[in-house]
Amino acid sequence: MEQLLIKLGNEVAKAFKEAGYDENLGKVTVSNRPDLCEYQCNGAMAGAKIYKKAPTMIANEVAEILKRSEVFSKTEVCPPGFINLNISDKYLCEYAGEMACSEKYGVDQPSEKKVFMVDYGGPNVAKPLHVGHLRSAVIGESIKRIIRYMGHEAIGDIHLGDWGLQMGLVIAAYKEAHPNLVFFDESYEGEYPQEAPFTVTDLEEIYPKASARSKEDAAFKDEAMLCTKKLQDGVKGYRAFWKLIMEVSIADLKKNYNNLNVEFDLWKGESDVYDLIPGMVDYLKEGGYAYISDGALVVDVKEETDTKEIPPCMILKSDGASLYNTTDLATIMERRKEYDPDCIIYLTDKRQDLYFEQVFRCAKKTGLCDSKTKLVHIGFGTVNGKDGKPFKTRDGGVMRLEYLVKDINEKMYEKIISGREMNEEEAKKVSETVALSAIKYGDLSNQASKDYIFDTERFMSFEGDTGPYLLYTVVRIKSILKKYSENGGDLKECSINGTISDETHKNLLMKIAGYNEMMNSVFEELAPHRICAYLYDLANVFNSFYHENKILTQEDEELKKNYIGVLKLTLGICEDCMQCLGFEAPDRM
Ligand code: ARG
Repeated sequence: MEQLLIKLGNEVAKAFKEAGYDENLGKVTVSNRPDLCEYQCNGAMAGAKIYKKAPTMIANEVAEILKRSEVFSKTEVCPPGFINLNISDKYLCEYAGEMACSEKYGVDQPSEKKVFMVDYGGPNVAKPLHVGHLRSAVIGESIKRIIRYMGHEAIGDIHLGDWGLQMGLVIAAYKEAHPNLVFFDESYEGEYPQEAPFTVTDLEEIYPKASARSKEDAAFKDEAMLCTKKLQDGVKGYRAFWKLIMEVSIADLKKNYNNLNVEFDLWKGESDVYDLIPGMVDYLKEGGYAYISDGALVVDVKEETDTKEIPPCMILKSDGASLYNTTDLATIMERRKEYDPDCIIYLTDKRQDLYFEQVFRCAKKTGLCDSKTKLVHIGFGTVNGKDGKPFKTRDGGVMRLEYLVKDINEKMYEKIISGREMNEEEAKKVSETVALSAIKYGDLSNQASKDYIFDTERFMSFEGDTGPYLLYTVVRIKSILKKYSENGGDLKECSINGTISDETHKNLLMKIAGYNEMMNSVFEELAPHRICAYLYDLANVFNSFYHENKILTQEDEELKKNYIGVLKLTLGICEDCMQCLGFEAPDRM
């Protein structure tokens, strides 16, 4: 369906043309003075410059024509030349009615389907997930869902950090404690054990200790680097041991991401492109892109228009080892070959902004990435505690994601079970659903690039701009619809008809009518926070409507059906929005 503002704009454009002016002046926006009107057109002001005429004169001529239009119920000119517009009830109801019968409530399929890859999550194997991993997972998942909703293909890849020093650290520490294991006996010829001799809890203890130790103990660090090298060089036992670390770690990651309703299509990682690196390095050398600087192999990526220094992109260190860059460049090659994406979107902390700028420039300049494929980095801000500093546990440690989620689940359970007639099992399910909305909405409602304060109490509140408030509203609608059916009403028979009973009813329909436009700009800007803002507004206008009008007790049967039609549409839109954000509402709460 055509977006409402475009339709309104077309009507105004026609009037500009009829009055003898350029029709492009007829752009319509939502009013920024809702006390005066619902929509507005500022074209007369721009027209004044072109036609050397007073803006009010132009506005008046156009308004005279618009007064005859069936689309608007009120047209007024306001100095210095604004055209203030109200939409007619009939036109608004027709538009909303058509939305209700359309696939995705009027959001059209694209004429050309594109392939997007979304690189998100990005955890490092053997290191537990902490609160910093929340944003990449939650925002990335939402962006993937938005792309799909808009009718494109989206492939989500977790891009594990599974190949670097952290693997060597774990191997070195384990080897020291268990030197006689066959994995570390390089003369061993037999089969390696299939079962890991460690659990994920062991790994989670080993890594932080080993990492801390490597900073003080140079010999241990050397050993860890040697283990990394042996792993990367393909020494059999080290590879077999690494495979077990991967299995144990991935099983745990899957559980954690599953709890967040986050799902990846690909579980690839840095290790998957290791074999492509030598060929890529040759290509960069032969093409004359890479040169040796202080022993390292680098590609210059600075451009004349740069206002700040962009250092070269390092491909190999002076000891020949590859880096984070190297695997990212090789991954771009691999993705092009395997999936031929139109766009690759990366989600990481915004501290990696410069890093991705270098990688993207290097990929484009060297032709590792063709001009067709867009590379986009979405850098997000930090999750802070109430003190405004990065979120920590009470004793100042790093907050494990698993514990954070568990803590909120438990608090939500207490909230749900008290004062409600629900058995434990249902309360547990419901509280998990509501808790997830609290966490995800708390994160997603902030513009990604901004830091935000993780305020558990506020996020869990049933009032205000929160996930649970939205769910509460959705549950309210579901329960009205259920009662309507239980009282013998047929939901299928209810649709929006031409009457609007009051201002709250009209406000609700206008918010609904802006859905298509909102979704399109969310997709253009890859900005889930705008869905949150829309949902919050929608919930508020719905609740005003609900408080002002009798719905189930409505005596006028036709009006009642009309109301139920509006409720069905509101619910459907809320559910699609939540689907795009990655959470859902229970049937009751
Ligand atoms: N593992 C990385 C980190 O911890 C994030 C990976 C992001 N994706 C990428 N293609 N570089 O910082």
